Amino acid sequence: MNSSHVELKNITKQYGSKTVLDNLNLEIGKAELVALLGPSGCGKSTTLKILAGLEHADQGSVCIDGNEISYLPTRRRNMGIVFQAYSLFPHLDAIDNVAYGLKIKGRSKRERRNRAGELLELVGLSEHTTKFPGQMSGGQQQRVALARALAIEPQLLLLDEPLSALDAKVRTQLRDEIRRIQLSEGISTLLVTHDQEEALVMADRIGVMNNGVIEQIGSPSELYHHPRSPFISQFVGVVNRICGEYNAGSVDVLGTRVDVANTEIDARDGDTLTCLIRPEDLRVLPDAKGSYRILNKQLRGIFTSVMLAGPGSTVIRVDMSDREASKLPTGSQVSLETLRHDAVVDFASPDEVAEAKAFVKERNANA
Ligand SMILES: Nc1ncnc2c1ncn2[C@@H]1O[C@H](COP(=O)(O)OP(=O)(O)O)[C@@H](O)[C@H]1O
Ligand SMILES: [Mg+2]
Repeated sequence: MNSSHVELKNITKQYGSKTVLDNLNLEIGKAELVALLGPSGCGKSTTLKILAGLEHADQGSVCIDGNEISYLPTRRRNMGIVFQAYSLFPHLDAIDNVAYGLKIKGRSKRERRNRAGELLELVGLSEHTTKFPGQMSGGQQQRVALARALAIEPQLLLLDEPLSALDAKVRTQLRDEIRRIQLSEGISTLLVTHDQEEALVMADRIGVMNNGVIEQIGSPSELYHHPRSPFISQFVGVVNRICGEYNAGSVDVLGTRVDVANTEIDARDGDTLTCLIRPEDLRVLPDAKGSYRILNKQLRGIFTSVMLAGPGSTVIRVDMSDREASKLPTGSQVSLETLRHDAVVDFASPDEVAEAKAFVKERNANA
């Protein structure tokens, strides 16, 4: 494959008066898989369409290997695209669907069928080459769509929610396979998804989008362990919101002073803030006088999530080994500690502030 280095520079796009992309910059390295992750409507598909030439930016440029292609029509961009909806030709069988793009490129019939056969084998469909789309499952149709996108040896593979219409089991199978093929072919890829788990397991780097900007971009592990804002912390992975009092750059939460990681937050001494703490960064201790009660336990495979009723309506999730969890009976009182020395913090909602104050009052009354 002729993998490429792709750049979007200072892209701005408006629909009417709405700014959908606001000075967006994005690079995809050779053979790299970059995921754009974000809630519905944040501008992911628009970004992909601008790369594909299906939409044009109001400002900014699209470059491939240093050459500007902003004004090149889609058919001259040499990109393979897979959308969420199975967009196969219903009157062509699998092999002809895959060979279609090669026909447009003027390859001989024999060459087309050979290459299409190879690609169907690559996506695990060598036994279904003569099936029509109506005779295939959703997962099989998306495999054909992927083979068709790869057939033209694209410089860039564009995947827009390619797994969203599939059921859970097929989705995880196909995502592993797309990644395997992308790595073995070494093809530069942009994956658009709203599914954080998909982005975390598939991508080399993830750009998390919010309202037309990439709020943070980095490796899955950077985003998970060092989120820069409450939005990123809550969108990538699971977090608990636990209140504490802010003073001089740190928050007193669960009896520990935790430094504020997002130092730009405009907080004043004495404010109640919410620390965003992941389930594995908490520790539960048996304690008859503790302020938390074990509601139930959820077995998740190699670990268990222990759910705690805290002050007010909050339910807190703590992840631990099954063995540790077995020592904590459901219904028992426990106390809670954090293992973190810093955390991303957010402004507490009025309900959270009220609950935190009630909690402190109750604790002082019991002391
Ligand atoms: N052709 C269009 N005309 C007007 N508004 C559009 C058009 N396409 C997208 N939008 C709007 O632009 C925003 C971003 O859309 P999109 O890029 O599709 O989001 P995402 O893929 O992240 O869900 C949304 O508010 C959407 O309604
Ligand atoms: Mg979309």
